[in-house]
Amino acid sequence: MTGLTGVDVAFIDDDDVLRAANVQALMLAGLNVTAYASAVDALEEIDATFPGVVVSDVRMPRIDGLELFRRLKRLDPDLPVILVTGHGDITMAVDAMREGAYDFLAKPYPSERLITGVRHALDRRRLVLENRELKRSVEAASEDLPLLGSTPVMERMRQMLRQIADADVDVLVEGETGSGKEVVAHALHRWSRRASRPMVVVNCGALPETVIESELFGYEAGAFTGALKKRVGRIEHAHGGTLFLDEIEAMSPALQVKLLRVLEAREVAPLGTNETRRVDIRVVAASKVDLPALVRQGAFREDLYYRLHVAAVRIPPLRERRGDVPLLFGHFLARAAERFNRPQPELDAHVRRHLAEHDWPGNVRELVHYAERVALGLAEAAPPMPAEPQEDGTLPERVDRFEANEIRAALEANQGDVQATVATLGIPRKTFYDKLRRHGIDQAAYRLGKLRG
Ligand SMILES: Nc1ncnc2c1ncn2[C@@H]1O[C@H](COP(=O)(O)OP(=O)(O)OP(=O)(O)O)[C@@H](O)[C@H]1O
Ligand SMILES: [Mg+2]
Repeated sequence: MTGLTGVDVAFIDDDDVLRAANVQALMLAGLNVTAYASAVDALEEIDATFPGVVVSDVRMPRIDGLELFRRLKRLDPDLPVILVTGHGDITMAVDAMREGAYDFLAKPYPSERLITGVRHALDRRRLVLENRELKRSVEAASEDLPLLGSTPVMERMRQMLRQIADADVDVLVEGETGSGKEVVAHALHRWSRRASRPMVVVNCGALPETVIESELFGYEAGAFTGALKKRVGRIEHAHGGTLFLDEIEAMSPALQVKLLRVLEAREVAPLGTNETRRVDIRVVAASKVDLPALVRQGAFREDLYYRLHVAAVRIPPLRERRGDVPLLFGHFLARAAERFNRPQPELDAHVRRHLAEHDWPGNVRELVHYAERVALGLAEAAPPMPAEPQEDGTLPERVDRFEANEIRAALEANQGDVQATVATLGIPRKTFYDKLRRHGIDQAAYRLGKLRG
């Protein structure tokens, strides 16, 4: 960590008299100065977080000003360096400027010249650091949408997403409601070379057709009644970045044609113009219905489907990856407890049972909401299992039900630990697994031990 916070200028000169004079001039101008008698000393303290400007004499023993400049440039290419040169050094100083030095001063110079130069460079330095900070916070905010899950399907999906993100192809993301399509789209964007550019989201289901069209393509002033000013469409806004088309299944046939044209030609024609504009976009489209079925019904264009389907990601519903429930729930519960400023609650038997048994038709979003209710102490206490033994059905059916309930209870009591559950039930491990499969019980969903961590 640098001890140079708040320093405006690092001044380097091996000549004691000149150094003292310059430092005094800078300080009189209200600037905060740190002085060094050698480049070595300066290099020891200056790093990429240095908030100020470096001013260095060129002719110095050991490491000269030029070499210092080159080393600093490797450290941070945006660090402004002003070089102070003698008579014979001007050509060299000009070369240094070509390499990216901020400015040079030929001796002798009036101190105002030094001060103005420093102030300009300082303004620029502040801008650079501010932008860096902004970019970092944007990245931190998008990291807020993590793609959690440790089941093999999720591990594989993350791995595949990284590859697809790299490949820069258009992607179709399929998954039930609340399964994480938007999270996946963000991950594709964040892990791609387009990450520093915008990701533009358009929900094709939420807006009326005419609005969507002008939103997507933009228009010239006077293109239609009410188009007073020219407007840049979302497709163009996504230039260099990612266009996320959510609920693509809701797109009208007319718009499907237009979208296909954009995907094929990589250009847009704003409404009311004849011109086309090239766009460099990656399209990620999301659908919560089975698009091939829509294609068969004639409600979705086959050519568009194949165009989008270059790479396809199918997010499995939560009930097909129950092993992720404890991890996700733990994460959402901690987050909710923090947001509502409450201690993290102990999980009672009803909550455990609900987590283990529920089918989650609303997928991860339903689990998020459930975690919030639990954090607030509002989760319904009614156990989802029948309290009274059911007396109907044939004897084998009743025996089956009884057996399944016993297994669930044992799993619950042992928090999903197989060895302990097998011991409680007094059956061989293999029989236990056979029974799990037959009753459709997912032992992983009972492993709530990790929630406490
Ligand atoms: N793998 C995951 N890890 C962490 N959070 C997730 C994950 N998947 C989904 N979520 C969370 O679940 C909620 C729903 O996710 P998202 O909005 O991406 O679903 P969706 O598939 O787009 O839903 P819809 O079809 O309703 O638009 C969000 O709060 C999201 O942050
Ligand atoms: Mg969504």
